[in-house]
Amino acid sequence: MQTAITEMLGIRRPIIQGGMHYVGLAELASAVSNAGGLGIITGLTQKTPELLAKEIARCHDMTDGSFGVNLTFLPTLSSPPYPEYIAAIIEGGVKIVETAGRSPEQYMPALKAAGIKVIHKCTSVRHSLKAERIGCDAVSVDGFECGGHPGEDDVPNMILLPRAADELKIPFVASGGMADARSLVAALAMGAAGMNMGTRFIATKEAPVHDNVKQAIIAASELDTRLVMRPLRNTERVLKNAGVDRLLQIEREKGAALQISDIHDQVASIYPKVMIDGDMDAGAWSCGMVVGLIHDIPTVAELIDRIMVEAERLIRHRLVGLLDQLETPTMKVA
Ligand SMILES: Cc1cc2nc3c(=O)[nH]c(=O)nc-3n(C[C@H](O)[C@H](O)[C@H](O)COP(=O)(O)O)c2cc1C
Repeated sequence: MQTAITEMLGIRRPIIQGGMHYVGLAELASAVSNAGGLGIITGLTQKTPELLAKEIARCHDMTDGSFGVNLTFLPTLSSPPYPEYIAAIIEGGVKIVETAGRSPEQYMPALKAAGIKVIHKCTSVRHSLKAERIGCDAVSVDGFECGGHPGEDDVPNMILLPRAADELKIPFVASGGMADARSLVAALAMGAAGMNMGTRFIATKEAPVHDNVKQAIIAASELDTRLVMRPLRNTERVLKNAGVDRLLQIEREKGAALQISDIHDQVASIYPKVMIDGDMDAGAWSCGMVVGLIHDIPTVAELIDRIMVEAERLIRHRLVGLLDQLETPTMKVA
């Protein structure tokens, strides 16, 4: 299937694997790219630009397809050396960068000079328009249901995607709540040129995380995520667990006076405990409401093939089939 996004990124299928801390390693990114989508290595999971350079080289060894690197500009206590991470991306021959968090504006000249396509992840139409204005090539529009940071506007994708389609000139992919062929076909119908998935890709054979994480995703329903850090205006959607219950209790006790230091134990250094050790009660880790739609652990190729085959069936049979029953109203076109 060719869309504006497959053509821009040089991929066969309009499916992107979003950057995920401690999940977006070469194993997963290369599997997605080998299956015809766009795999993405999570830049900041690599503690130094040198380690990122090694991870990029490892991914090149595992796929001949295009893959990208995610650079997240989120409030962190010590700011990472972004220019050096960008140098590692450029020297590693990576041609696609997914940016997220704050605006990538100050890094656009370096990225564009290196011929890199920039996809900025946005949770609102106004941020998407800003991304378009500063020269981003595409936007990943992340609705309120998404795993990770949904922003503070709380607009779900049934509204956000058509709004983005009405306003944007650059292509965009739908992100948040995407799991299967139904998601892809709906996203295309709402004006997107493809879809970005996070949580769904964790429950795959190649995702390099502890099996407890995959089992927790399968066991969870769409009711099992929680929003944390709202009082800090750094909202994150996470999977409910004992650490998250404690975090929410602290948030209730502190109210508007909450400081990040109050919840340090529930949010700092949690990812290696969950993703590597499989300690599912350690604290807050991102997870989307889409867990309610995830019931198996296929290989990445099985997942992507299944989505594409079922999407074709949905379009050819269900949607085109509906046309036969359509009574076309006479419309006056202005
Ligand atoms: C475990 C996990 C870690 C994530 N880490 C990052 C990250 O480091 N940077 C980023 O931009 N997005 C991150 N995300 C967000 C994803 O890239 C993607 O936008 C989101 O998962 C889409 O929503 P979905 O989970 O409903 O598919 C993460 C998501 C998950 C589930």
